[in-house]
Amino acid sequence: MIEKLRQRYLNLLEASLTGILYGDPSGDPWSTGYDLHRRALGRDWPQSALTMIGTARMQNLRHVCETVLLEDIPGDFIETGIWRGGACIYMKGILASYGDTTRRVFVADSFQGLPPPDVAYPADQGSQYHTFQQLAVSRAEVEANFRAYQLLDERVMFLEGWFHQTLPGAPIERLAVLRLDGDLYASTIQALTVLYPKVSPGGFVIIDDFNLETCARAVHDFRNANSIAAPIIPIDGMGAWWRV
Ligand SMILES: C[S@@+](CC[C@H](N)C(=O)[O-])C[C@H]1O[C@@H](n2cnc3c(N)ncnc32)[C@H](O)[C@@H]1O
Repeated sequence: MIEKLRQRYLNLLEASLTGILYGDPSGDPWSTGYDLHRRALGRDWPQSALTMIGTARMQNLRHVCETVLLEDIPGDFIETGIWRGGACIYMKGILASYGDTTRRVFVADSFQGLPPPDVAYPADQGSQYHTFQQLAVSRAEVEANFRAYQLLDERVMFLEGWFHQTLPGAPIERLAVLRLDGDLYASTIQALTVLYPKVSPGGFVIIDDFNLETCARAVHDFRNANSIAAPIIPIDGMGAWWRV
């Protein structure tokens, strides 16, 4: 009975956070209206829903979070690149639904959108992501989103600022789930370099933007440099993951 109720809560939370519950239309410059298929695959930017990653990647996130809880893999959860916070709210909701009182959810973002391309990372040259104002969501707004779902507490840890400044000194000892969603080569490699060594054996790495050439290149460069051979498993034509 409890398991049934838990799954019903998580189904409802997921449908609400993706906007599928209420047919939330697109809010990006290249889509119009509400399209269930696009939203399920995370192919548009929602007008008011709290995550753009779509149903398939939300279900992958739920699968990995539930697996580490059921198998007792130690560590906190983090997403680097959170936008309105929907995927982090989902992680926190999953923890709450299992009665977890110890794990933290780290929420890492500039809260002002993507950085302009850095000359130190040639792969990002020409990127225009930093010009998209829709990607700049304030910390106050994200906190309000957590609060609306009654999921804001002292175990939600905000890391506000550019990844290269916030991640190295973050008070993180061990991670069970590392979810990367920073789009750029720089944002991806910076997060992997600092956080990957903290992922527990049996923990998970999720790459939201594996379809983007810049992001995929950062992942391959990092894996090659660190001799990581675990198979990369595709999710929905965009995201991918592997188990440590
Ligand atoms: C595509 S959005 C994330 C979508 C989100 N995961 C969701 O569930 O909808 C990318 C986010 O990454 C953040 N970001 C990208 N690179 C960053 C960096 N180097 N430092 C801080 N934030 C960064 C942006 O501010 C933006 O909120």
